[in-house]
Amino acid sequence: MAFPSSLTLCMFFFFAIFHFCNSLSTSQDYLKLPLLHKNSFSSPAQLLSSDSHRLSVLFSALHGGHRRSVKSPLISGASTGSGQYFVSLRIGSPPQSLLLVADTGSDLVWVKCSACRNCSDYRPGSAFLTRHSSTFSPHHCYDPACRLVPSLKPSFPCNHTVLHSPCRYEYSYADGSTTSGFFSKETATLTTSSGKEAKLRDLAFGCGFRVSGPSVTGASFNGAQGVMGLGRGSISFASQLGHRFGNKFSYCLLDYTISPPPTSYLTIGSGDQNGAVSKSSGMNYTPLLTNPLSPSFYYIGIKSVSVNGAKLPINPSVWSIDELGNGGTVIDSGTTLSFLAEPAYRHVLAAFRQKLKLPIVAMKPKLSFDLCVNVSGVRRPMLPKLSFRLEGKSVLSPPPRNYFLEVADRVMCLAMQPVKTGSGFSVIGNLMQQGFLLDFDKDRSRLGFSRRGCASP
Ligand SMILES: *[C@@H]1O[C@H](CO)[C@@H](O)[C@H](O)[C@H]1NC(C)=O
Ligand SMILES: *[C@@H]1O[C@H](CO)[C@@H](O)[C@H](O)[C@H]1NC(C)=O
Ligand SMILES: *[C@@H]1O[C@H](CO)[C@@H](O)[C@H](O)[C@H]1NC(C)=O
Repeated sequence: MAFPSSLTLCMFFFFAIFHFCNSLSTSQDYLKLPLLHKNSFSSPAQLLSSDSHRLSVLFSALHGGHRRSVKSPLISGASTGSGQYFVSLRIGSPPQSLLLVADTGSDLVWVKCSACRNCSDYRPGSAFLTRHSSTFSPHHCYDPACRLVPSLKPSFPCNHTVLHSPCRYEYSYADGSTTSGFFSKETATLTTSSGKEAKLRDLAFGCGFRVSGPSVTGASFNGAQGVMGLGRGSISFASQLGHRFGNKFSYCLLDYTISPPPTSYLTIGSGDQNGAVSKSSGMNYTPLLTNPLSPSFYYIGIKSVSVNGAKLPINPSVWSIDELGNGGTVIDSGTTLSFLAEPAYRHVLAAFRQKLKLPIVAMKPKLSFDLCVNVSGVRRPMLPKLSFRLEGKSVLSPPPRNYFLEVADRVMCLAMQPVKTGSGFSVIGNLMQQGFLLDFDKDRSRLGFSRRGCASP
């Protein structure tokens, strides 16, 4: 045969891990992965209070200057598993299916491995069985790929003459949750839009032996077996596949409270759906901004906020990223609520209070919602309209159900939380993103969004 095997082709490249070694598919192909939503909590109030807990930890950690003491910047992420979207990934030979949290706020793809000593969940299928795969191998600590992950502290000196010296990583999420294990490579089996089965050799991923912290353990992780990092860094799933499918991905998170819940999709590459939307000019764009201190995050720039069309008197500097890397606004699929820098949040809250014509009710303080209304007996509650004017002259106008959530029977609360200025950053969480087709175009460094792109496939 005149064709070199795909393995040799792969090895030809310096960073073999970033290459998709399947010469059969055409560049028009893309991947379309269903996003599942699971909610193990009995009430939205419960899930949201756990989400806010995570983030309050996150911001105090940043405030404490931890950002400086870690080698890799803090990453948000796999949050509490509450208002979470999951994606299924098949890795290994033969393939094993694993359910991962889809997280645009972090980079690492990792799964619980069978050797996990304290993953606390030992049901069959709850971890990746490395012994059952003929293609699994940890990266050697001397491998250049090993420099792409934060290593365990104190760093293990790598002796390259020792044959079995796996690359040990330790990856931390913003709330202090961590996963550690061997940074490894494995074959992933993907089904492309044209129905072809494609093999991605050498998907770089973390084979997790230890997990700790609320984001990645216990009931709050909701039975997930790992995290699919979709962040901007080179080791994220989106980046590793970017070379093959065009450096973009998109998703549409649909309202999971609808019955039956519609299926949301994560598309890697240019799905025809996206093409159609941009052609019909339904797509709005805002530049993706970068923060060298948090290179995983997708930042967007907010210029102003309006409630019922009236621009709020918020100093624009509230939205900027300062020289320490604090501030800015991150778009994160792994966080449920939205978080606004404190002075902006206060203005939004005041405007809502003023505009609401419904009876305001006090919720139990532990729920930490600042504004709730009683909508009992009101068929179509009139809720104020929120809109964000973004960089690039686009306006994000989410429907009220993206920021008012029915937290108890006929009680709706503003699903937003404050963040201290100068110590954290604003977050557009997944609830706020619902019903929008979001297109992360990394080559053009822009985020496209449209409320028209979510029509059923
Ligand atoms: C590396 O391993 C070899 C063989 O075990 C040993 O002789 C050598 O001293 C080690 N080097 C370092 C720097 O530890
Ligand atoms: C796993 O072990 C780590 C370190 O020993 C510990 O901090 C963590 O709480 C443990 N996690 C679970 C789920 O037991
Ligand atoms: C909401 O209003 C209804 C009727 O006006 C009342 O019966 C109910 O107790 C109120 N709910 C709360 C949580 O205040």
